[in-house]
Amino acid sequence: MNAQIKPPAKKSSDTPEKAAAAAFELPPLPFAEDALAPVISARTLQFHYGKHHRGYVEALNKLVVGTPFAAMTLDLIIEATAGKADQEAIYHNAAQAWNHTFYWRSLQPHGGASTPPPALAALIGSSFGTLETLKKELAAAADTEFGSGWAWLVLEGAKLKVIKTSNADNPLSSHSKPLLTIDLWEHAYYLDFQNRRPDYTKGVLDKLINWEFAAKNLVGS
Ligand code: FE2
Repeated sequence: MNAQIKPPAKKSSDTPEKAAAAAFELPPLPFAEDALAPVISARTLQFHYGKHHRGYVEALNKLVVGTPFAAMTLDLIIEATAGKADQEAIYHNAAQAWNHTFYWRSLQPHGGASTPPPALAALIGSSFGTLETLKKELAAAADTEFGSGWAWLVLEGAKLKVIKTSNADNPLSSHSKPLLTIDLWEHAYYLDFQNRRPDYTKGVLDKLINWEFAAKNLVGS
């Protein structure tokens, strides 16, 4: 699965506490902090990546100390804890860590609106008719999600589909394969757009969405 964060190999000299504390690492951003401006400012990225995304990874590391989860991938933790009330905190932080890494890769720097590569373009055609229709469906899903959540383009069977999830949920525990996502939590846009989520989603869809990344996920394992 793309964007998963694998635990680093543990050194024999590590104490259990030290090894557990380093179970998951914050992956570097795939672009500079100012590379998404003007749609997403460097200030938003400093908070969103530097505080929120980092916070999920650090919270997860604290929660998994001394548990079997410390040796698992994020994907496996999400699948193992989804829907289990007694593991809600681990699920939320693992899913949010995974979602954010996937989100950064769903965006491309410098506002160069890309076009979907041929195989993805063909699927968009058979699933939605046109790219514009797909973008309208993504915007509608993003703008109508009540509260915090995520909008996704997923592959379900042989068809593309737009879905939305609430809070930390993602498609990993369903039968859908995520291709790209848009973060709908207020921390993703509040500094730049205040409460105007539709302006943020329009900017992302017109200027930043990374169709190459979605196309790679079509063929990725
Ligand atoms: Fe976020």
